[in-house]
Amino acid sequence: MRDLEPVLRGIAQACKQINRIVQRAQTDDLYGVATDKDGNPLEDTNIQGEVQQKLDLVCNAIMLKAFCGSSVGVIAGVASEEEDVPRTCCDVMGDSAFAVGEYVAVFDPIDGSKNIDSSLPVGTIFGVYKAAPGTKAGEKTFLQKGTEMVAAGYCLYSATTVLVITMGSGVDGFTLDPDQGDFLHTHPDIRIPSAGPIYSFNEANFHDFSTPVQKYLDALKSGSSATRIRSNARYVGALVADVHNVLIKGGIYGYPGTRDNPNGKLRLLYEGNPMAMIMEQAGGAASTGTGRILDVKPSEIHMRIPTFLGSIDNVYELDQFHQYYEDES
Ligand code: F6P
Repeated sequence: MRDLEPVLRGIAQACKQINRIVQRAQTDDLYGVATDKDGNPLEDTNIQGEVQQKLDLVCNAIMLKAFCGSSVGVIAGVASEEEDVPRTCCDVMGDSAFAVGEYVAVFDPIDGSKNIDSSLPVGTIFGVYKAAPGTKAGEKTFLQKGTEMVAAGYCLYSATTVLVITMGSGVDGFTLDPDQGDFLHTHPDIRIPSAGPIYSFNEANFHDFSTPVQKYLDALKSGSSATRIRSNARYVGALVADVHNVLIKGGIYGYPGTRDNPNGKLRLLYEGNPMAMIMEQAGGAASTGTGRILDVKPSEIHMRIPTFLGSIDNVYELDQFHQYYEDES
């Protein structure tokens, strides 16, 4: 996959740019809801029904260029969590030289962007799929199972800025040296512990979770789960930060379905699949509660699914709770 090298370099460059923007968001008045030229809030929400933040728009433009502009003939098209429909790179770059390529990319430019206002971590997530040679990317090209991904990664903008990447043979982490401006290979071959102490769920939704999820969380809290670990709750509210914590320390991240939203909140293409590939490649697991995330065939590009990611023992036990307990809610 040497042909992807310039694209990955482009992503690393984009992460540096976004890192700088995130750090300057307060001082440069880049936080808050996106506004028009007169300063009025944009009425538009994105396709998810969420109000777009200023940062969403700026970082979306950076990621579009990173994928499409770093090499001719590699990426044919891109689907962004911030845009209603996928775009061809020819359209993004305004140049027909970029019309075809052998891969398509999906990304969430700034995940957890509402965290910016309170100086909490945010992240960027991406995934790359193979496309038929000479592809002119249309929506169907993006509706592939996660098992077809050839690369995935995220960038975490937090106490340190960390780029985590998999190309299908393990996971590697690179930390940005703030003085040199280079990513250093600080986390070679990341392996997630087979079980761990962290559980990362939005517990405000506990009473809307299904019975198996509630019972599993109770078991984690009382230390009666199979791992016998009495767990610690950690929840930042930005997927990249919460997943990175679980990847390093072990445990489970979950965004389950709720009574009102049975498919939960997280998007399969931009969030679930890239994180699932990273978890599996690090020796962990990724489940919807009833099946492997990477085996789900997307029906549309903004599809949501219940998402559980983490240590293999934790995720498998949660799956067993789903088999054992009927949903009584
Ligand atoms: O999908 C967007 C997102 O901001 C994720 O980064 C995060 O994990 C989740 O939503 C938080 O949602 P909630 O505020 O409902 O817990």
